[in-house]
Amino acid sequence: MSTTSAAPKHARPSGSGVEPILSVEDLQMYFPVKSRGVIRRTIGHVQAVDGVSFEVPKGGSLGLVGESGCGKSTTGRLITRLYKPTGGSIGFEGEDIAGFSPRQLMPLRREIQMIFQDPATSLNPRHTVGQIIGAPLVIHKITGKDGVMPRVKELLEIVGLNPEHVNRYPHEFSGGQRQRIGIARALTLQPKLLVADEPVSALDVSIQAQVINLLQDLQREFDIAFLFIAHDLAIVRHFCPEIAVMYLGKIVEVADRESLYTRPLHPYTQALLSAVPDVRQAAVGGRRERIRLQGDVPSPINPPSGCRFRTRCPIAKDVCAKVEPPLMQVGPRHKVACHFAGELGHHPAVPVTGIDVEGAATGGTVVESAGPGFEDTWLDLSTGQRTGA
Ligand SMILES: Nc1ncnc2c1ncn2[C@@H]1O[C@H](COP(=O)(O)OP(=O)(O)OP(=O)(O)O)[C@@H](O)[C@H]1O
Ligand code: SF4
Ligand SMILES: [Mg+2]
Repeated sequence: MSTTSAAPKHARPSGSGVEPILSVEDLQMYFPVKSRGVIRRTIGHVQAVDGVSFEVPKGGSLGLVGESGCGKSTTGRLITRLYKPTGGSIGFEGEDIAGFSPRQLMPLRREIQMIFQDPATSLNPRHTVGQIIGAPLVIHKITGKDGVMPRVKELLEIVGLNPEHVNRYPHEFSGGQRQRIGIARALTLQPKLLVADEPVSALDVSIQAQVINLLQDLQREFDIAFLFIAHDLAIVRHFCPEIAVMYLGKIVEVADRESLYTRPLHPYTQALLSAVPDVRQAAVGGRRERIRLQGDVPSPINPPSGCRFRTRCPIAKDVCAKVEPPLMQVGPRHKVACHFAGELGHHPAVPVTGIDVEGAATGGTVVESAGPGFEDTWLDLSTGQRTGA
């Protein structure tokens, strides 16, 4: 569980040829749990993020989706280096920033910014909008004193707010307007990567679409890469060409939009998707059959052995408690971590991960976890052979 400072192992263009701006490998965040009393001993760890790997292409966007408590915000806070990871690497433009000191991080604060979930608490109520948005310009000495206000007004205009309201306080704005202020603040330093942590979940449904459209316009105009964190798959659908699904600190499936929404292979993704209204099916009077997950999400202090989803998985078998399934690439831009990965209702009877139902090696190749990006070859689930484009 050491933090490395060497270059990330997989710092190379992914299968698409698009160079990643962010390449996260085997990222880990274990929060210590202390005993009560005077001598507070560490008695366990919250395994909030445990071995997460993914990539965000330059100027592109990756959606990160999962239930409450699965580790989405922690992942975002690790990437922005508000937290120092327990282990793993965070490759940003080819350099591993996981072990960077506060001094080394200073210039990076300009390049990686975060939009927070709750605009009401993330803006200082005692500061005017001008002070909030202008502060990064002053801290990073981007402009002289005279340049701050014109730039703040320009940013307010960019996010669709009245530049004349620069002297107002956050409480004088609506929820949607406050989130626009948060977005303007994140844009102040012209970042290359924005971590948007549930940027619309605190807003009314009618306002959500406006804010998402704004983010989409900004992405196109300024070529900003996004890690877009959300609770449900409906929100990221139109924003993100690629989506990663997280469960209890791990990524269980990551795929391009088309593959994920039309051919999800992990039982958890299938359950999440069954809760998303399908416009095309609704048009012909139908709806996906709702899969209701049993039980609660287990504690990340003592997660289940083997596959962490097994306590709620409708198709779990004994082997799932013994061996953790690797996140394996099964299509040009599709990865899944399940011994019985398959389309809904067509899950195979024997593991696809190169082990038998008892968890012993079958003599063939045991499938290993893929790196953060996509390779040019992958495991063909129908033949069990490696194949390529
Ligand atoms: N600073 C901390 N100290 C200890 N445990 C923490 C800390 N921050 C988060 N956790 C725990 O880590 C796990 C993941 O939390 P996280 O906030 O990343 O989840 P999330 O996916 O963002 O959830 P939500 O959708 O509710 O925002 C949770 O069990 C949480 O209680
Ligand atoms: S590995 Fe087993 S428990 Fe985990 S998702 Fe697949 S079938 Fe379910
Ligand atoms: Mg969160």
